Amino acid sequence: MEKLFHTLLTLLLFAIHTLPPLAGSFPISPNFPAVFNFGDSNSDTGELTSGLGFRLRPPNGQTYVFKPPSSGRFCNGRLIVDFLMEAIGRPYLRPYLDSISPQSYRRGCNFAAAGSTIQKANAASISPFGFGVQVSQFITFKYKVLQLIQQDEEFERYLPSEYYFKNGLYMFDIGQNDLAGAFYNKNLDQVLALIPTILDIFQDGIKRLYAEGARNFWIHNTGPLGCLAQVVSLFGRDKSKLDEFGCVSDHNQAAKLFNFQLRDLFRKLPEQYPDSRLTYVDIFSIKSDLIINHSSYGFDHSIMVCCGTGGPPLNYNNQVSCGSTGKANGTTIIAKACSDSSKYVSWDGIHYTEAANWFVARHILTGKYSETASFWNP
Ligand SMILES: *[C@@H]1O[C@H](CO)[C@@H](O)[C@H](O)[C@H]1NC(C)=O
Ligand SMILES: *[C@@H]1O[C@H](CO)[C@@H](O)[C@H](O)[C@H]1NC(C)=O
Repeated sequence: MEKLFHTLLTLLLFAIHTLPPLAGSFPISPNFPAVFNFGDSNSDTGELTSGLGFRLRPPNGQTYVFKPPSSGRFCNGRLIVDFLMEAIGRPYLRPYLDSISPQSYRRGCNFAAAGSTIQKANAASISPFGFGVQVSQFITFKYKVLQLIQQDEEFERYLPSEYYFKNGLYMFDIGQNDLAGAFYNKNLDQVLALIPTILDIFQDGIKRLYAEGARNFWIHNTGPLGCLAQVVSLFGRDKSKLDEFGCVSDHNQAAKLFNFQLRDLFRKLPEQYPDSRLTYVDIFSIKSDLIINHSSYGFDHSIMVCCGTGGPPLNYNNQVSCGSTGKANGTTIIAKACSDSSKYVSWDGIHYTEAANWFVARHILTGKYSETASFWNP
């Protein structure tokens, strides 16, 4: 009897999973009761500034009035993850280390911190919160939350219940800094050879989250690293290193191989975790399209930065970050914002403008750049 039941259930599940997606179906759904995010500055909503105890200087956060007022985002406004939360009618994700906030963690928590790598942080790392630490933070968070709720159900008003953890969406956008960092002391071949090791560590994090009951995974691949002004200014002085669009070829090649192997891993995960659902989002294609075809999307500049100094072609100075001042040839220079950030893809040479993030989020939401994998529908 039980066996028959199982067979029927299996057939039913099979039928559900092989149904074609509904027309206009939504790739990121409000049905996920909570969202837990892991990553770097691409999705840091204030974690690094909270964790290290500093405030980003304006004009960071200038475009959008965040509550609380200091946005902690390396951007003039909203990030991709903010737009995704808006799309499913959720508040912006509160950083795990943000102790002063009117917001609760009921609908999720953000562990992403700027500068973070998949590999363990070292003395040279900007962020001590590498992926493994972020996963450990999540595990501690969950343990404490469930303990509190067990003591007093009232806490469910502010904290995610067990059901929320189990059915929540686990999002990832990390790896960019592993590649960027590797290029400082390795040649292209050495960087490429490092990628399987980086992805092994990533997989280990997924495994730990799965062991904690995570079942819904949403993975962003990495963007065209070689098109960032920071990379162009350091590695593109020799013009033969640049491609026809002005991006550093080696860095983009590494990003492409990273994504190729990440997708391979993604496709294999359902075999190991049969009851999980996974989505892989091709951020690289969306950002490349935006950079290469920027003028047809209403942007004037693709690589030249909005908040920088030095003027064309890059308006970027490695020594003077957005919002700060420096000295050049005895005169004071200021990295300040351009007059219309909506015409720029790059905010500060490393991070994208709100306008660019909105472009990327809109493309994610079409579902056309996503691939879904599950055991039933690999
Ligand atoms: C740029 O636009 C053209 C024309 O729409 C398209 O064929 C091409 O794939 C785009 N480039 C990228 C990198 O997406
Ligand atoms: C400083 O002056 C030198 C010589 O005139 C010039 O080549 C260089 O570009 C200047 N640096 C900046 C940051 O303006």
